[in-house]
Formats: sequence, C-alpha cells, structure tokens
Amino acid sequence: MRHLLKLLDLSKDEIIEILNLADQLKYEQKNNIPHLRLQGKTLGLIFQKASTRTRVSFEAGMYQLGGYPMFLSSNDLQIGRGEPVQDTARVLGRYIDGIMIRTFEQQEAEDLAKYSGIPVINGLTDFSHPCQILADLMTIREFKGSFDGLKVCYIGDGNNVANSLIVGCLKVGMEFTCATPNGYEPDQKVLDFAKDFPDFTLTTDIVLAAKDADVLITDVWASMGMEKDVVARRTAFKGYQINRDIMKIAKSDAMVLHCLPAHREEEITTEIFEEHAKEIFEEAENRLHAQKAVIVLLLS
Ligand code: CP
Ligand code: NVA
Repeated sequence: MRHLLKLLDLSKDEIIEILNLADQLKYEQKNNIPHLRLQGKTLGLIFQKASTRTRVSFEAGMYQLGGYPMFLSSNDLQIGRGEPVQDTARVLGRYIDGIMIRTFEQQEAEDLAKYSGIPVINGLTDFSHPCQILADLMTIREFKGSFDGLKVCYIGDGNNVANSLIVGCLKVGMEFTCATPNGYEPDQKVLDFAKDFPDFTLTTDIVLAAKDADVLITDVWASMGMEKDVVARRTAFKGYQINRDIMKIAKSDAMVLHCLPAHREEEITTEIFEEHAKEIFEEAENRLHAQKAVIVLLLS
C-alpha cells in the first residue's frame, strides 16, 4: 500500500493488516504503552471542507505517534486561490512525509498522490471516505468478534460513505444490502465492483434491506457540498430512516453505526441513536486508532 485513496485499491489482506495494527495501537494507547513510531515525521492535513473527527483524530494520532501534524486550511493555502494541485503536490513532497486531504473531487486526491511522491490519505471526497470505513470495520469486529456470517444493511443516500462501505464490507466477506431511493444509488464504479458478489443487494425497499441484519448503518441525507439540495432531499429520503420499526426487522442484537454528524429525526431517530450511542461513539473513537495504523504503515 503506497496511499490510501479509496478502498477499491486495497486487497482484503491489506485491510485486515490495517485493522490488526489498529487493534494493537488501541491496546497500546489504553495501556499507556509508548508507541512513538513516527518520530521526526510530518503529516500535512489539507481541509477543503469542515471536520471535527477527521481533523482532531489525525492531529492527536500523529502527536501520539511522536510525529508532527500540520493543519493546512485551504482558506490559507494558495490552492484556495487557484494554484494547481500538481504544483502544490510537488512542493509539499519536498517538505513533509505524507498528506491527508479532505476535498470535493476524488481526482484531486489522486493527483496529489501522483505528483507529490509521498503517501496521500483520503480524509473524505465526494466519492469515498476510506478512513471512516476502516473505523467502521474495526468497530464491527470489536463488537461482533469477527466478520463471518454478518449481514450489513445501509439505508440512505448512495454517497461517499455508502460507496466505501460497500467496498470495505464486501472485501472482508460480509453480506451487504443497500437501500436507497431511486436516483440516489451508489457510484457506478462501486456497483460494477459489487456485481460480482452474490451477497450484494441494491434495493429501494428498506424492509427487505434490514431483514435479519446484524449491523445497520446510515448517513446524512445531504452531504457537505449539497447544501442547496437539502429541501428536495428531505422529500426524496422520507422514510429512509433507522427507527424502531426498522430495528424490529433486524436481528434482536443488531448494532447501529453512524459516521457522524447525525441529523436526528432525519436519517435516524433520537431514540435509536441514543440506544446505540455506545457503538456509535466507539466508532468515532476508532477513527483515531484506524488512522494511526494507516499512517504508521504508510510513513514508517
Ligand atoms: N465522520 C467524519 O468524517 O466526521 P468529520 O466530518 O467531523 O471529520
Ligand atoms: N456523507 C457525509 C459524511 C460526513 C462525515 C458528507 O460527505 O458530508
């Protein structure tokens, strides 16, 4: 693995290697075992969109590993004034050891990787959110013990989270059912990948999707950058919600995940969110451990 740009690029073994190291780093941190594996290394963090979890977990994680996290807001970088990403990449590659980028176009992250000569990590694009899904997989394995025989159900927008979730869950061997309204399906590249998996189902029917699910996942109806569509999306996604009725269709011990931030009473009810806060906030914590594993593997 030279970069983490999208889960489509990773093998099952590479995903499992990240998850195993993440478990190890979580253990070391919880037991105050020093793990200064990135001393002298600098990770640049470019943000073209807002963030709480991604920014804070990368900054804290890099510090815990003995390295230096450098926050680079696009408001302050020349990239925000139109300097081409190819030039920014070739400059940053001479100063620092790795780059995390959160941006709109997947191609921008891919170009940064192509031109910088240093490892690049995708901290969310419109197409994918691989760091989130590594944390989700880590959390599922932590709560369920293994991936064997599990059915994951995603309800909502076929967005960046859904795209990465489908690829990640299928690669590690879980059954996956995705329920989206017509016109809001996951990206065609992801559907092309998923069509070879007999355990993948795409439907508009949330009841079919949630039936006997072990893990239920949702995300916001309107992602960052879709602010102008919020009202239309509220109509389109009505009913695509994790609520008490859906939980009754899933297995009685089903867990619920949400990448956060959550919009209560839209994609998930307050009641179900709070009942499953234990898993959801462990998932948020696991961003830290999973990303530490990624940066150790890429930078050391
Ligand atoms: N889940 C997630 O990526 O959160 P942030 O937008 O706060 O980073
Ligand atoms: N799909 C959401 C995820 C936020 C972490 C977005 O892109 O805004």
